[in-house]
Amino acid sequence: MVKCFVPQDMTAKAMGADQAAGFIQNAANQSGAQVELVRNGSRGLFWLEPLVEVETEAGRIGFGPVTFDKLDTTLIDALLSADQSHPLCEGLVEEIPYLKNQQRFSFVRAGLDDPLSLAFYQSTGGYVGLRNALAMSGQAIVDQVKESGLRGRGGAAFPTGIKWQTVHDVAADEGETKYIVCNADEGDSGTFADRLAMEADPYQLIEGMTIAAMAVGAEQGYIYLRSEYPEAHRILNAAISIAEQANLLGDNILDSGRRFNLEVRLGAKAYICGEETALLESLEGKRGMVRAKPPLPAIKGLFGQPTIVNNVLTLAAVPFILREGAAAYAEVGFGRSRGTLAFQLAGNIKRGGLVELGFGPSLKSLLDDFGGGTYTGRPMRAVQVGGPLGAYLPESQWDTPLDYESFAAKQAVLGHGGVVVFDDHVDMSEQARFSMEFCVAESCGKCTPCRIGSTRGVEVIDRIRANENRAANLELLEELCETMVDGSLCAMGGMTPFPVMSAVRHFPEDFAAEGSK
Ligand SMILES: Cc1cc2nc3c(=O)[nH]c(=O)nc-3n(C[C@H](O)[C@H](O)[C@H](O)COP(=O)(O)O)c2cc1C
Ligand code: SF4
Repeated sequence: MVKCFVPQDMTAKAMGADQAAGFIQNAANQSGAQVELVRNGSRGLFWLEPLVEVETEAGRIGFGPVTFDKLDTTLIDALLSADQSHPLCEGLVEEIPYLKNQQRFSFVRAGLDDPLSLAFYQSTGGYVGLRNALAMSGQAIVDQVKESGLRGRGGAAFPTGIKWQTVHDVAADEGETKYIVCNADEGDSGTFADRLAMEADPYQLIEGMTIAAMAVGAEQGYIYLRSEYPEAHRILNAAISIAEQANLLGDNILDSGRRFNLEVRLGAKAYICGEETALLESLEGKRGMVRAKPPLPAIKGLFGQPTIVNNVLTLAAVPFILREGAAAYAEVGFGRSRGTLAFQLAGNIKRGGLVELGFGPSLKSLLDDFGGGTYTGRPMRAVQVGGPLGAYLPESQWDTPLDYESFAAKQAVLGHGGVVVFDDHVDMSEQARFSMEFCVAESCGKCTPCRIGSTRGVEVIDRIRANENRAANLELLEELCETMVDGSLCAMGGMTPFPVMSAVRHFPEDFAAEGSK
């Protein structure tokens, strides 16, 4: 019997994983070969997808990318006999440097097995964290999260333990419950780590949310899922139902007498619905408008009750902390950025995919060691880190260490770890315009600097690009950006100036000619 793994991840499927699985199964049926086909998650090496693996005594041998055009009997024969002389053979998967040189805490199980196999999850340390948590007081769990130094992975990097402490300390109204809300809206450009975590290892998120519930005394949780993620939707719903049947969710978790129920809700297809208060409005069935803070969602959140809102990866980091201890997590990292971050390499890059590393290495080493240059083979010119509201970094800043404070010192952000690469064909004035226009399209409309400012911003950039009163318009753009930073209610309007002004500052040659009228 040959055990063969073909990922069911959305990227792998988009690249032809279903056809590869069908082709292998047909070939096996015709030749009478005994094949056990496992639809695993992805390892996040997207440049190799579909990455088909074959189990051997020496370990799992990988072939990739097994795209539709390469599927022939020679490849299938090589696959089923783990013939390493085939040109698509990558050798032992665990030895591929892209994977081997990562430090995986949250993605350690990704791609190893069927993501819905609860037996596999539990055989690899799954639910040890929850069992530990059930034997602790809520305060002791919160203390562990505080000591780990975990900061929110959704963008703002707020200390998770402090948020949990607030929810722990406030009581819900009589007859009401506290809530755990997972922000799985993942709207940033070039990001896919949340999706991969949900598709490849759903129980880790479910366990993390259940531990959060035990910490603060919540009884209901929601995963607010980006509606463009149908595979994650299917997998999460199936995993929740399996966890319920196994008494890992529901009214009497692991016979502890504790209750926690969990549901998936599809998002409203708007970037602003990733902002936590707009998300809560949307979850309540209203239009996704930002709420003024205070009150914090931790005090008055979903349906007016104390609510933890955390990103997928923040919650997915929690089982490790409760299993291995806060110190094991805090040991890794740099400065006040503890643990690991899942970087997502995207855009014009040769080896796009997920790279989980402890904070601290430079952006350049991430790009060189993992990315391998641009996809087009042309020189790299600009790198946008941290999503559509993140700054564009020129080459002179690529030595910046990947940690929250070092990026802030450069007026940049790490955000959710998205890294989008551009080659020397990029026109940075066009990128600046795109950033402003993004804000026009995605603004919730509640405050003037963002709603009106972004529209005026596009007009000013257009005048600069047309060489109309260049100096005066550049000054006006700077002033407008300052107003947006100072006067916007949320980070949508408050951060749009980051990409815009970074493009102007670092790539002035793209903003029309000097000495114009
Ligand atoms: C415009 C905007 C969009 C956002 N989109 C997301 C998102 O898609 N996912 C996410 O986790 N956080 C997003 N955030 C951050 C959330 O508001 C919030 O800080 C986060 O969910 C808190 O979780 P964390 O502490 O675990 O990071 C966004 C913020 C803004 C201002
Ligand atoms: S900054 Fe923009 S998105 Fe945020 S509240 Fe104001 S109008 Fe809405």
